[in-house]
Amino acid sequence: MSFQFFVKSNLVFGRGAAGKLPELLKGYGLKKIMLVYDNGVKAAGIADRIREEIDKAGVGLTIFDRVIPNPTNEVVEEAAVIAKNEGVEGFVAVGGGSSIDLAKAVNVLMTNPGSIGEYGGMNMVKNDCLPLIAIPTTAGTSSEITNVSALIDTEKVIKYVIIDNRIVASDVICDPEFTRTMPVSVTAATGMDAITHAVESYISNMATPLTEYNSLKGLEILYKNLPLVVKDGSDMDAREQMMLGCIITGFAFSNANLGLVHAIAHTLSAHFGLPHGMANAAVLPYVMAYNAEAVPEKMIELARAIGIGGNSDADKDKYLLADALKALCKEVGIRTLSEQGVPEEAFDRLAEDVLKEPVLNFNPRQGVTKEDVLAILKEAY
Ligand SMILES: NC(=O)c1ccc[n+]([C@@H]2O[C@H](COP(=O)([O-])OP(=O)(O)OC[C@H]3O[C@@H](n4cnc5c(N)ncnc54)[C@H](O)[C@@H]3O)[C@@H](O)[C@H]2O)c1
Ligand SMILES: [Fe+2]
Repeated sequence: MSFQFFVKSNLVFGRGAAGKLPELLKGYGLKKIMLVYDNGVKAAGIADRIREEIDKAGVGLTIFDRVIPNPTNEVVEEAAVIAKNEGVEGFVAVGGGSSIDLAKAVNVLMTNPGSIGEYGGMNMVKNDCLPLIAIPTTAGTSSEITNVSALIDTEKVIKYVIIDNRIVASDVICDPEFTRTMPVSVTAATGMDAITHAVESYISNMATPLTEYNSLKGLEILYKNLPLVVKDGSDMDAREQMMLGCIITGFAFSNANLGLVHAIAHTLSAHFGLPHGMANAAVLPYVMAYNAEAVPEKMIELARAIGIGGNSDADKDKYLLADALKALCKEVGIRTLSEQGVPEEAFDRLAEDVLKEPVLNFNPRQGVTKEDVLAILKEAY
């Protein structure tokens, strides 16, 4: 057995954990930081709550509050100009994956030359980044602990990823209280994103014993608790479990990568702006049925992790996970592609673009064809 597994951030977890922010900030001795968030986080009162904590640290503050869902290169460049002009020495990002990913990307440009599009791919960031404290408000992308930033290149109409250990947040504050105000559709979509991370990392051809362990445990926790938080958003025990499940899963996919579900979801978001988790969830069951041909045993192990025993007939049991995920999507209100406004006429172009996605390299079933993707899109329609 031989493998590499990277972890970096100092993580503070628990209700009220935001109270640790002043101490963490003081530890860095920074003169000025940029606080990054979006409208939804502001409307929920979370941005103001974080601002209070930053004020306690007596650190100079610049605010960037124009994060958008599925952030683009343009917004990254806009924020980077402000951060450089203001001479910021570190970042606090509070929000979902969009806010945290944007802060990671802006951070790249603080210490590395050129434009952000040059850093797409793996290990392209040459210089270390500034301190970044990530405070997630969804559960979630796990962006708070991953080495990934996902951005849209509006000119190329693609969603691309920067994967680099240098962009990982220095500190993470996971306060489940901050996920309480998520609208139910965001709760469902972000939870399904986390479940997608668990299953795709488990079957990834980069999986190792340590990532597999995290994927299985993450899936078990997320699968059990997602229906509970969708049913009752004030169930804080379940919200807490969702946040824990995301962290466990994040360690897995940050090291094992993802696959065909994310290839399709990125393409859907680049073309039609679908929320990331909704795009993943719409195709997840069908991609898992497709992948079952390549990794039947792993599909059965994933089904076992969510308490579904098989009939000892591997040919049938390899589809148990896909069936369970289809039922879960229905239960938590995931919309089909047609309900999400994706026109059938676009399927041809979408399928061609999916085949160009680098993340396909990690999918267990190789040799994915345009016809394969078209069949999955039709099932998800
Ligand atoms: N870096 C990674 O490892 C990684 C992994 C998966 C996905 N992503 C990326 O993350 C982005 C998606 O992030 P997301 O799914 O967390 O959603 P998001 O950050 O786009 O937020 C979605 C919406 O929910 C609102 N919101 C978030 N938290 C809230 C709260 N607590 N209360 C009220 N409203 C709240 C936001 O304001 C926004 O309107 C995508 O761009 C995706 O590609 C990154
Ligand atoms: Fe994702």
